[in-house]
Amino acid sequence: MTLTGLVMVLGLALVFEGGECRHHEVFVAEGSVAVLPCMDESSSVSHPNAVYWSKIVGNSQKTVWRREKSGLEFRPLRDLPRAKCPAPNFGKGDYSLHITETRLADGGQYICEVEGKTKMQKVIMLRVVRASISPSIVFEGLRIEAMCHVKPETPDISIKWKQNGEFVNSAIISTVSQRDAGKWTCQVSYNNMKVEATTTLQVRGISSPQNDSSVFYGSVGSTISLPCVFTDGLIPNTVKWLRASAATNSPVTLPHSAFNSSSGFIKRVEVGDEGTYMCSGVMEGLNGRSIKLQRTMKLVVARVLSSSSDPMTLMCNLSDSSQITSYEWLCVNYSPNDTQTLTTVQRTKNPSIQVTEKDAGEWMCRYYGNQGLLGNVTSHFYTMGALKSGNSSSGNKTAMVLGLGFLFMVIFLILFQMYRNYRRKQKIHLYPAMENIVHQTITEREWKERSREKRAEACIGEPKSVCV
Ligand SMILES: *[C@@H]1O[C@H](CO)[C@@H](O)[C@H](O)[C@H]1NC(C)=O
Ligand SMILES: *[C@@H]1O[C@H](CO)[C@@H](O)[C@H](O)[C@H]1NC(C)=O
Ligand SMILES: *[C@@H]1O[C@H](CO)[C@@H](O)[C@H](O)[C@H]1NC(C)=O
Ligand SMILES: *[C@@H]1O[C@H](CO)[C@@H](O)[C@H](O)[C@H]1NC(C)=O
Ligand SMILES: *[C@@H]1O[C@H](CO)[C@@H](O)[C@H](O)[C@H]1NC(C)=O
Repeated sequence: MTLTGLVMVLGLALVFEGGECRHHEVFVAEGSVAVLPCMDESSSVSHPNAVYWSKIVGNSQKTVWRREKSGLEFRPLRDLPRAKCPAPNFGKGDYSLHITETRLADGGQYICEVEGKTKMQKVIMLRVVRASISPSIVFEGLRIEAMCHVKPETPDISIKWKQNGEFVNSAIISTVSQRDAGKWTCQVSYNNMKVEATTTLQVRGISSPQNDSSVFYGSVGSTISLPCVFTDGLIPNTVKWLRASAATNSPVTLPHSAFNSSSGFIKRVEVGDEGTYMCSGVMEGLNGRSIKLQRTMKLVVARVLSSSSDPMTLMCNLSDSSQITSYEWLCVNYSPNDTQTLTTVQRTKNPSIQVTEKDAGEWMCRYYGNQGLLGNVTSHFYTMGALKSGNSSSGNKTAMVLGLGFLFMVIFLILFQMYRNYRRKQKIHLYPAMENIVHQTITEREWKERSREKRAEACIGEPKSVCV
């Protein structure tokens, strides 16, 4: 209802006084409602007896709609019910003809005749505007031409084209791409009035990514899916994924297990996965010939690198940072209920941040481009000597577990040794009396032996009996 009303207003707005002979021009887009004005401004024919609308076809005048003095309404059967003259408006002196779903063929000259006390006659020219694209369904890479038809034609107009709402210079595209798909609008200007007719262009091909300049970002360890989505209804016979390997720069066909028809799927992104990927599909064209569609895209791998010096530097490293405008470093914390809280610490053009021992924990780097946030990568860092230099989050955990184990073992061994030394000392001091006894026994025995030796010396030369 509102749409019809709007179109009617538009139709009315496009009524022009055609000069001395009360000649009106109406421009209307094909498919909308045309309102051909016939107003009794001077109220000279109040209480009309008959209203007669006709169209000039060739040399004759054909009835479009008619109301007799008796109140009976007539219209030719074939146009039912597109043209009508709403009777409730008559009281306001409005005998305008409304044509719904206007067709190009409806364009032409119309005559309105009203009979009452006096007679009134008006001539209205209806021009219908249609936009079309040839062909309206096309494969990527082919040529299209947009056309604006005005019927009946007139030289007194200017035509401009809009593509998805933006004015474009040319209505001819030699190699059509996905971005050309959508609404094409022909804007016809007459005097200061404008009327627009719109048509839709469907470009068959790969709808995502739209073009060859797409870049995707994946952080080390994450899962990424590179898209290769064909437009609705397009089912390629085969889809292949190729990779331009950095080493040879020649394409390498990727195993099907990693990539399927709808997406290039990398389960765990690693350093070295960066580079150019291409998906291609072969299908049958409209004329039976096979058509090959392909798209290249770029994968950028993101990771966090860290220096081992103190203060430590964390660096957000992307295999290609040409589209990055800023980096944001956030400190990641977890509340007891496992809710993640992020606190922005730094947002600059600089990919690095300096952290000290007290900042140990989880850090996130978010990287931004002109179009906004592009991705993020997280890192854990701990401040235990050699463990500092770990750079990937999960690698760091393993390193920490191993390192801690080693550290505990060393500490344990040291403590064990200390304990053993302690025990030995304690054992000696436990029996001080025994030590004296042992000592005494030894001295006593020594003394006895010595005295015996002395006596033996004294016996030399003495009779044996004395020496016992
Ligand atoms: C490629 O497509 C994207 C949208 O997907 C668009 O923003 C960009 O301007 C396009 N680039 C070119 C060169 O057409
Ligand atoms: C492609 O692979 C991904 C990951 O294995 C899966 O989620 C998706 O459903 C697959 N798509 C098709 C069409 O098989
Ligand atoms: C990121 O690391 C790569 C390889 O280690 C290096 O070539 C590149 O220069 C680094 N990028 C930055 C911005 O430091
Ligand atoms: C978790 O805790 C945070 C604050 O520590 C609170 O804002 C949030 O609502 C809690 N979420 C749930 C699910 O309890
Ligand atoms: C980090 O990136 C992943 C996708 O790579 C996204 O799902 C997630 O929401 C991002 N996290 C934050 C906090 O930006």
